[in-house]
Amino acid sequence: MESESTVELLESAVMDIHEFQSLESKHKPWQKIRTIVNIPIISPFKRRWVQLAGHTGSFKAAAGGTILKRYSENEKNCFELLMNDSLSCCVPTFHGVVERDGESYIQLDDLLNNFDEPCVMDCKMGVRTYLEEELTKARGKPKLRKDMYKKMIEVNPQAPTDEENVQQAVTKPRYMQWRETISSTSTLGFRIEGIKKGDGTCNTNFKTTKTRDQIRKAFLEFIDGNKMILDQYLCRLQEVRAVVESSEFFKRHEVIGSSLLFVHDKKGKSNVWLIDFGKTTEMSEGNTLDHRIPWQEGNREDGYLYGFDNLIEILSSIAS
Ligand SMILES: Nc1ncnc2c1ncn2[C@@H]1O[C@H](COP(=O)(O)OP(=O)(O)O)[C@@H](O)[C@H]1O
Ligand SMILES: [Mg+2]
Repeated sequence: MESESTVELLESAVMDIHEFQSLESKHKPWQKIRTIVNIPIISPFKRRWVQLAGHTGSFKAAAGGTILKRYSENEKNCFELLMNDSLSCCVPTFHGVVERDGESYIQLDDLLNNFDEPCVMDCKMGVRTYLEEELTKARGKPKLRKDMYKKMIEVNPQAPTDEENVQQAVTKPRYMQWRETISSTSTLGFRIEGIKKGDGTCNTNFKTTKTRDQIRKAFLEFIDGNKMILDQYLCRLQEVRAVVESSEFFKRHEVIGSSLLFVHDKKGKSNVWLIDFGKTTEMSEGNTLDHRIPWQEGNREDGYLYGFDNLIEILSSIAS
């Protein structure tokens, strides 16, 4: 028992370093993290887990090739349904809910387990990354936000309207909708959130990666121009898309903010999974979604399969 808790302590120390790295890399693209990760904290427990995107501090290491993600009832419900859906082969296995230090977590398979110095890419799917209800809620409080105006002009000084420039502020719904247009989210139905290479370098600076060419370039760098890996990814993506198309879970859910996690290593092993169901919301009884038809407010379409088609098409264009 004692040695197990030591393992856990050590693992959580390493995870803290990963969290620190992930926080740091937000501001420093392609930062070398190897030196940080390789601090000699008892090497037998050295883990290769890395959090590429999402909320920092939400993850903890766990024993037996699993990780713990901060509990959300919504995500737990999704994983319970997913374990009995055709998609169970395309998501991390869910091992239930556990308590750690007075907090609840969902326990999931660590998808980086069994990879040797993995390269990881998080690709956020869909034509929008907020729920319709979040937009409605934001409209309910049309407060002018100076912070959001500032973020806007940092990316594009031309983005605000004359009125917004006078106010030096924008409303939250305006900001939410604008934000989806600076990456490929609104046009292509997916965006790259982050890439970690096998050498430990990390890039989360894809906020304005928008065109097919920019995506091809980022992906080519991710796979280091390796044609075999590209073909494997394309094959797996086609397989996963077919499962998504046939999934009962998908038909009945608005899938927002979910990602495809790409993982490969230098030994030529690769895989793709669906992760992050924190914002995935069930439709009311009898209602289903197509996931390809355009989103119009009220129809709740998420463009997940529209994005999937574009992703496969863009990667295929590299292969040819
Ligand atoms: N099961 C998993 N195995 C390995 N890495 C994971 C797993 N789940 C998440 N991650 C890593 O953590 C990051 C954030 O996970 P995600 O579930 O999207 O959290 P959030 O809800 O905070 O966005 C992902 O980009 C990925 O790098
Ligand atoms: Mg996420």
